[in-house]
Amino acid sequence: MTIDVPHRIDPATVPSFALGSGARIPAIGLGTFGSDRFSMEEIAAAVGVALRTGYRLIDCASVYGNEHLIGPVIRDTLATEGLSRDEVFVISKVWNDAHAPADAVASVHRSLSDLGLEYLDALLIHWPFPNTHAPFAATDDRNPSSRPYVHAEYMAMYRALEELVDAGLVRHLGVSNMTIPKLRLVLRDVRIAPALNEMELHPAFQQGELYQFSKDHGMVVIGYSPMGSPRRPERDTFDGDVADLEHPVVTGIAADLGVHPAEVCLKWAAQRGHVAIPFSVKPAQIASNLRAVTENPLTPAMLNALRSVEANSRLIKGQVFLWEGSDSWLDLWDVDGTIPGWTGYGSTAVE
Ligand SMILES: NC(=O)c1ccc[n+]([C@@H]2O[C@H](COP(=O)([O-])OP(=O)(O)OC[C@H]3O[C@@H](n4cnc5c(N)ncnc54)[C@H](OP(=O)(O)O)[C@@H]3O)[C@@H](O)[C@H]2O)c1
Repeated sequence: MTIDVPHRIDPATVPSFALGSGARIPAIGLGTFGSDRFSMEEIAAAVGVALRTGYRLIDCASVYGNEHLIGPVIRDTLATEGLSRDEVFVISKVWNDAHAPADAVASVHRSLSDLGLEYLDALLIHWPFPNTHAPFAATDDRNPSSRPYVHAEYMAMYRALEELVDAGLVRHLGVSNMTIPKLRLVLRDVRIAPALNEMELHPAFQQGELYQFSKDHGMVVIGYSPMGSPRRPERDTFDGDVADLEHPVVTGIAADLGVHPAEVCLKWAAQRGHVAIPFSVKPAQIASNLRAVTENPLTPAMLNALRSVEANSRLIKGQVFLWEGSDSWLDLWDVDGTIPGWTGYGSTAVE
């Protein structure tokens, strides 16, 4: 069944950013992680709605478990809309359980097969840790095999992925949920530099330092949970989290512009200079989110006011990826500038 789309937006009016390769990536794409609340079928149908509305970027991942349903939707929609493959930018990601080089390569082949594609526009390493959690895991669940970042292992995987770029199966490599200390090591050791860095970004969590570091090192930044993930899983919900869509500065700007606060978050992302990948299965939201970046921009005063919303409010803290012996999610994010378990250049213990 084809769902009607309320509005069509000319993709040519959607801003885009240049990657180092010269390829361009739209300033907005559809997220495909349903926060454990939406069915795989609903999410796959949303991809069709998004493409017909005018989206040209889809953020997928093997762990979302829905690439096999999204693939046929992409194929059918390209055919019915008369679009060619190179008009759409498709991202997939390697999950934490596939960090061994052979497993990472197999994961990419599976994503390509599920998505029905001959190449991925970008392949991201989803998290820097090979640590997994059971579906619907509780926050304090710890997998006994979880452990800190081990740079030599990460690079072994990265090198295997570089070969997929050489083979033409992947156009760009990227990272996600990284930190400056880890990126410094990666940038030192790569042959093909990461072109994209996907990180949590919304007005209450602006990540200024990592953002600027990424741009200074030639990466286009992708912001996930761009509206502050109001439907995120329970395991990622804590007292003290800031709700971007209810923040008085955000709602005030939304009222002034006559738009929903979600649109303020998306305008902020595009005008700041990063890609946003909002999730929705609702055709009206899918359309208004895309339209938000094509018209009615924030004024310089509004952009300045949004700086004050920054509250260092990380929502996806990642506790389920912690190892035994660590009791703080801050260990995942190298907040003091060091990598737990990493004892420095030349260390045989961890390199
Ligand atoms: N790399 C990573 O580790 C990582 C981590 C997390 C997410 N992601 C990616 O980022 C994507 C988005 O993240 P997210 O889903 O956590 O957060 P989000 O996009 O900030 O929030 C999604 C929710 O916002 C609401 N929404 C969307 N458009 C709206 C509108 N126009 N008006 C009002 N409400 C609106 C919807 O709620 P209702 O359904 O209630 O309407 C939707 O469920 C994911 O799908 C995934 O692709 C990547």
